[in-house]
Amino acid sequence: MNKGNLTRAERIFNLIAPIYGLFHRGLEDNYRKAVAILQEHCPISRETRVLDVGTGTGALAGAFSELTPHVTGIDLSEKMLSSAQRRYRAKARFLKMAAHELDRFEDREFDVVAAAFMLHHYAADYRRQVLRQMKRVARQKVMIIDFIPHQSRLMSFLEALEGSHYREFMADFASDLADVFPSYQVVEFSVSSGVYLCDPE
Ligand SMILES: C[S@@+](CC[C@H](N)C(=O)[O-])C[C@H]1O[C@@H](n2cnc3c(N)ncnc32)[C@H](O)[C@@H]1O
Repeated sequence: MNKGNLTRAERIFNLIAPIYGLFHRGLEDNYRKAVAILQEHCPISRETRVLDVGTGTGALAGAFSELTPHVTGIDLSEKMLSSAQRRYRAKARFLKMAAHELDRFEDREFDVVAAAFMLHHYAADYRRQVLRQMKRVARQKVMIIDFIPHQSRLMSFLEALEGSHYREFMADFASDLADVFPSYQVVEFSVSSGVYLCDPE
């Protein structure tokens, strides 16, 4: 993995954290719906242990924290994490940590391991490295919320500004998942996004 990509992601997200916060409420509503989709396939109780990778302002971690007190969010951006901590400090734990550092966690340490709109920022080698780690630390489900193949000039423009691998992600993500997981399914969430539900074993 090119360390420059991580430094760039950290810099960009530190910069846009205040703007991202403006969309937080809407994201939280959407992620409640995504968690409800997950619950149709994987029961979540007060004992369920959840890891949210690239937690950002904590919207997905926050949605999970309404169901279980065992939620951990990790992110490499200090500013995104402080925003998450401000909102959910009492309900979830947040750690400054990059996605490829999941080797700090034990095998099957979490029941559900999730990532929302983080993986499309990276090329296939890093995406797959992270997916393998997410699979290793998950016991029940890996849930990815991210783009599904669609056409949007506006998104292409915005993602190009962020320097993400958005187009390549949409073309290749299905084969990333097929290579890493024994099985997975996609539930369409909007015209442009889906919930990818993956079985770790
Ligand atoms: C588009 S935001 C999504 C935030 C949140 N998951 C959401 O959906 O609201 C992507 C987040 O992933 C974080 N991120 C990017 N690359 C990362 C990496 N390699 N490890 C951990 N976090 C990362 C960014 O700092 C940012 O907070």
